[in-house]
Amino acid sequence: MSKEKEWLLKEGKLTEKNLKRLKNKEPIDYIIGYYDFLGCNIDLSFKPLIPRTETEYWVEKALKEIKGECLDIFSGSGCIGLAVLKNTQSLVDFADKYFLKQIKHNLKVNDLKGKVIKSDIFSNIKKKYDFILANPPYVPIGRKLDKSLSFEPSKALFAGKDGLLFIRKFLKEVDNYLKKEGVFYLEFDSFQKKEIEKLLKDYQYEFFKDQYGKWRYLRAALAREKKK
Ligand SMILES: C[S@@+](CC[C@H](N)C(=O)[O-])C[C@H]1O[C@@H](n2cnc3c(N)ncnc32)[C@H](O)[C@@H]1O
Repeated sequence: MSKEKEWLLKEGKLTEKNLKRLKNKEPIDYIIGYYDFLGCNIDLSFKPLIPRTETEYWVEKALKEIKGECLDIFSGSGCIGLAVLKNTQSLVDFADKYFLKQIKHNLKVNDLKGKVIKSDIFSNIKKKYDFILANPPYVPIGRKLDKSLSFEPSKALFAGKDGLLFIRKFLKEVDNYLKKEGVFYLEFDSFQKKEIEKLLKDYQYEFFKDQYGKWRYLRAALAREKKK
């Protein structure tokens, strides 16, 4: 029996219909209906992006320093902010343009409290944070993808020709939403590292690899001379 079938069996979901979905290359997480992210039950019924193990990897590291007020921007399922609420004392605001209902639902499922803001990137963000955590869409339009990705929302994946559309906008504005000593984390794809580095002139930053050895995220704070 394949491991996917074993998972379905374990969840009591090994039905003819689900086997057909699996055969059609639908991601197992949508079929099961949830994803376990750093101790949080992430319901996927509104079909947000399925949380990735690469994201879980850096968020687990970030949790070690997160305190105060935190913004999970490009929140989607809410997995990042929920993990922060569950594992730290921090207060979390969630911002996304589309998946507000999913975030609210996941707060309820996990018995956690946070503010959910409908926002086009920073358009409705009104305050400054100690930490901002961002996993924006970063796939270049036109890139050939596995069939399983076609089940996920394109607005959670694609970001212009080079995949940097949202990262550019985010980096242009993020300093307005950080407290003086504030820190942000940003996820990206390894081939984007060089271009992103050019956009980080005003920051002290460090790039990190994921658990598979690929450049995947950065941690940045305002450079001393730029601090307001
Ligand atoms: C890559 S997903 C990340 C989801 C989640 N944070 C995670 O790590 O699994 C990107 C998210 O950005 C949201 N998004 C797309 N365009 C946006 C915009 N202009 N403003 C705010 N959020 C946007 C999508 O709805 C999607 O939920």
